Amino acid sequence: MSAVASRRVIPIVDRVRSPADLPLRSPAFDASREDGTAASRPADRLGRPLHDLRISVTDRCNFRCTYCMPKDVFDRDHAYLPHTALLTFEEIERVARSFVRLGVEKIRLTGGEPLLRKDLERLVARLSTIEPPPDADGRPGPALDLTLTTNGSLLRRKAKALKAAGLRRVTVSLDALDDGRFRAMNDVDFPVRDVLAGIDAAADAGLGPVKINMVVKRGVNDDQVVAMARRFRGTGHIVRFIEFMDVGASNGWRLDEVVPSRELVARIAAVLPVEAVERDYAGEVAERWRYVDGSGEIGFVSSVTQAFCGDCSRARLSPEGRLFTCLFAGRGIDLRTPLRDGTTDAGLGDAIASAWRARTDRYSQLRGSAPATDGRIEMSYIGG
Ligand code: GTP
Ligand code: 5AD
Ligand code: SF4
Ligand code: SF4
Repeated sequence: MSAVASRRVIPIVDRVRSPADLPLRSPAFDASREDGTAASRPADRLGRPLHDLRISVTDRCNFRCTYCMPKDVFDRDHAYLPHTALLTFEEIERVARSFVRLGVEKIRLTGGEPLLRKDLERLVARLSTIEPPPDADGRPGPALDLTLTTNGSLLRRKAKALKAAGLRRVTVSLDALDDGRFRAMNDVDFPVRDVLAGIDAAADAGLGPVKINMVVKRGVNDDQVVAMARRFRGTGHIVRFIEFMDVGASNGWRLDEVVPSRELVARIAAVLPVEAVERDYAGEVAERWRYVDGSGEIGFVSSVTQAFCGDCSRARLSPEGRLFTCLFAGRGIDLRTPLRDGTTDAGLGDAIASAWRARTDRYSQLRGSAPATDGRIEMSYIGG
């Protein structure tokens, strides 16, 4: 790693090695905000505050990425959720408002492919009207960070409307620049150039800088890593290299297909000198690095080799209104029934807060040492 500049380099180490290392109270938790509005911000049993909400709006996708929706499982006979089971936009807005009242500052829309949900911009418009509660001194809290993770296939058509509706930025998945490789990975023969056009459309619409997610599998697309770094260097966009995770029960995950982030950093650093950058905020998923010549930033999501459960502040809402407190959970808490039975806002807030307070999840930390959760949810259902 000689090409890595020594200044401000943060060694990549396992941030949390054993349960005893877990903070009793996450450093992300701002005690001063326990007064006033944030008095209602719940912390879980390991002291982790609720900060992000990921909302999956559909379990359907027009891609069949081999690591997410393999065709032999997600075929014509697969039981997708019927439309009537999905939360309506009005219901999603109501749940989102409850989360924001509890301290959530960032909402990410996901899927499946979220842009397959008809008129998604109407949901964005509703969510963009949500105002954070004032702080203890009555000052307005930071504006809600409203974002979307998409495969990019419909972005050319949708970017402007999403921006106009109040979306702040987008993350686009792209696993290879080589067209043949990408078509084989999405398994529906979708070309690279159309995703690149989607990224351009998003940037032109003001949704940039765009984050570009690349899930790396050894022997499948790891030879594309340096090409991806080179392609987006100097564009202002940020490529994030993601370790292939054992989400769900159908993606045929094998440890030997995971390329550890530290190996990828070394490969990139050998040709493009990089240095580590401090995280933007505790609990941020990606580890940030930048090119020493100032030509941009890249990120690494290392859930397998460097679990980040110690800071995990993300709640997940499924398309039919179940609240999951971990990506690897098997069971979620049904919020749709109380919603449709006329629960009050206070009742909804209490249900969410008590689920969060009871939370002990830290799957990635325990991976391998704990018995596998029964009936683990699929990535395409819960959205990453
Ligand atoms: P920003 O920080 O806003 O850029 O978003 P993000 O990186 O949290 O979201 P994104 O949808 O781009 O996810 C990037 C990768 O991180 C995906 O592979 C997600 O599945 C994974 N990821 C996000 N949150 C978690 C988490 O809490 N646990 C694990 N294990 N993986 C996560
Ligand atoms: N491991 C890691 N990332 C995954 N994603 C989907 N499946 C996996 C997996 N098994 C990524 C998608 C998308 C993000 C939400 O999660 O590529 O960018
Ligand atoms: Fe669809 Fe995203 Fe899963 Fe690929 S990773 S199949 S684009 S939901
Ligand atoms: Fe959070 Fe679960 Fe991911 Fe750990 S494995 S970071 S607890 S979602």
